[in-house]
This record gives sequence, C-alpha cells and structure tokens, in this order.
Amino acid sequence: MPNIALLPGDGIGPEVAVSAVAVLNAVADDLTFEEHPAGGAAIDLHGTALTDEALAAVKASDAVLLGALGGPKWDTNEPGAVRPEQGLFKLRAELGLYANLRPIRPLPALYDASPLKRELIEGVDMLIVRELTGGLYYGERGTKDGRAFDTMVYTVAEIERIARAGFNAAKSRVTSVDKANVLDTSRLWREVVTRIHADEFPNIELEHILVDAAAMKLIAAPRHFEVIVTENMFGDILSDEASMLTGSLGMLPTASLGGTGPSLFEPVHGSAPDITGKGIANPIGMILSGALLLRHGLGREAQAAAVESAVDKALEKGIRTGDLGGTATTAEVTEAVLKELT
Ligand code: NAD
Ligand code: IPM
Ligand code: MN
Repeated sequence: MPNIALLPGDGIGPEVAVSAVAVLNAVADDLTFEEHPAGGAAIDLHGTALTDEALAAVKASDAVLLGALGGPKWDTNEPGAVRPEQGLFKLRAELGLYANLRPIRPLPALYDASPLKRELIEGVDMLIVRELTGGLYYGERGTKDGRAFDTMVYTVAEIERIARAGFNAAKSRVTSVDKANVLDTSRLWREVVTRIHADEFPNIELEHILVDAAAMKLIAAPRHFEVIVTENMFGDILSDEASMLTGSLGMLPTASLGGTGPSLFEPVHGSAPDITGKGIANPIGMILSGALLLRHGLGREAQAAAVESAVDKALEKGIRTGDLGGTATTAEVTEAVLKELT
C-alpha cells in the first residue's frame, strides 16, 4: 500500500489537490494519502513553513504530492522573515531532489488555446531539466545597511549530476542553457557539461545557448528543443514561458527526482491568488503531476499512461477552464477526466 504524503498548501493548491487525489484513486485502488500543512497553511498553524513532524512524515512516505505554496497573506519584505516558499526549499534540499523534470507537450486539441501560431507548436515535445537544489536559491544571501545580495554557487559535482540527468533523458539532442558570457558559474557549467558529453554521451548532440537567446528561440522555433538542461533560476523562468506553448501555465506537471528517498511531484504553477476560492483553477497540471508520481515515484507506467490518456480524451471533447478560453470549473474538468477512466 504506497503511502503518499499530500501537501495541498495554499491558494488553489488545495483545490487542485482534490482533483489529483480523485484521479489517482480512480486509477489505483491501493494508495493511502496522509495530509500535512505546508507553506502559509503551516505558518498559520505552527509559525514555520514546514514542521519537523511533517518533514519526518514526508521522508517516511513513498512519494510526495504538493499543490502550491505561498500567497499575498504571507508576503513580507522583512529580511529573514518566515515565508511559505521556505517549505519548498527545505523539501527539495532535505530530500536531495536536484533534478526537476518539466515536460512540455502541447496537445493537438489545445493548439488553438496557445497565443502562438499553430504551425509553430505542432509537434513540440520538450523537456526542461531544471537544476533544483543549487544556484541562487541556495547561495549565501543577506540584507544590511541598504545593500542586499544573493550569490549563485555551483560545484563541479552539482553540474555533473544534472548534466547526466539531462543526457539520460535525451534521445538525440541536449541544449544546455547558461549565461557564460557573463557568469563564472555559467563558464564552469559549460565546461563541465561539455566534458560529461564527450566522456559519457558522445552519441547525443550537445549545443550551448545563452539564456537570453534561448528565451527568444523558445517562442520563435520551439520544435528545435528536445531536452533543455539549465540552472535553477533560468529553468524556473523558461518553464513558465514554455508553458504558453501548451495554452496555459495550469497545464504543466513536474517531477523532482534524484534523492535516495521519496520524490516530489507538483504542478509548475503557483497558488494563483487572483483566482483562489472561485473553483475555476485548471487542475490538469496537478492531475498530470499525479501521473508523473505513478510513473517516477511508484514505477507504475500503465497507470500513469492511463491518466495521461484520460486527460487527452477529456480535452479532445472540448472541456476547458477559463485559462484555456473555456468556462468549465475545476470540478467539471475533474469529472470529465474521471469519466474517461471508467
Ligand atoms: P502563479 O503561478 O500562482 O499565477 C500566475 C498566473 O497564472 C495567475 O494569473 C494565475 O491565476 C494563473 N494560473 C496559475 N495556475 C493556474 C491554474 N492552475 N489554473 C488557472 N490559472 C492559473 O504565480 P504568481 O501569481 O506569481 O505567484 C503566486 C504565489 O504562488 C506566490 O506566493 C509564489 O511564490 C507562489 N508560487 C508557488 C509555486 C509552488 O508552490 N511550486 C510555484 C509558483 C509560484
Ligand atoms: C516553482 C516556483 C518556486 C521556484 C517558487 C514558489 C519559490 O516558482 O516551483 O517554479 O521558484 O522554484
Ligand atoms: Mn516557478
């Protein structure tokens, strides 16, 4: 009986968590879910974004499913203050989840929901491999006397392992994205990725692109990309950009892998305070994160594929939330997916 640690979090997190749990229970009859507050919800209850007790329960679980953390209620400019996002950083670091996979596969049924022309996005099948436990998010930082700083740090070992994750995920081409014309971390990144390629993956094509040009090319020629491997913050920004190829940020799932314990699955989007409580959030990114949990977290390929196929079929029949130009509610989209599973 796999035990899933469920962290619904804040804002629309709990709204889309309900959808994912319903779909997971429909496709697998042996999952147990143990819920814990995280982010703002945990700050309100316990004064910290992730309690030691919740962290211990997460570590003892078989996989972690997370909604979204954060929101204006807990936004503060106070240096050193408790923030919901700290829960996320703690989870990623404590579980050793350095490899964040963000697949971007626009569905034919949604080509017209994207602001980009159909002929640009037809056939796009891309994976962003985002480094998740290093870089600016984890470097030394501070604010003092009218001066603030964040430092970007990468070690050779950190770059080697994320480069391998990128090459292992690729069939023919890896695009490494950096800012090697400016940053020392990027020059080291480029050197290490080039060496890992030559030594271990010579049959895969490797190209290096500067992040500003990559941001442009993602829109101008998205089919060019197969696997993008990049550092933490570049991956964060490029994946929200790339989400528009699928029609909405609400569509993208992620898998955070690489640790020795449970892996973590969450949508790319955040807590969407502007639509919280209205019942209109797109649950697909969260439902597809459930599919990734089945595939990468529990090794259940058939069940994962069943969820993905049910999502495709429901969308082919025309159901859409507002972010995709439709009028359906979260519950209606969830029902439509469930119907395709039975
Ligand atoms: P956001 O992703 O929450 O929202 C950006 C825009 O996309 C909003 O207009 C929102 O309504 C829309 N959107 C996002 N998900 C949607 C969905 N499923 N269905 C329909 N529309 C959707 O980003 P933000 O507004 O910049 O951040 C809000 C809060 O979320 C912040 O506190 C941020 O730190 C947090 N955040 C958390 C995570 C996470 O937990 N993994 C990820 C991103 C942002
Ligand atoms: C994401 C989010 C987080 C990140 C925020 C909430 C800290 O944007 O998972 O993409 O930047 O990693
Ligand atoms: Mn993000």
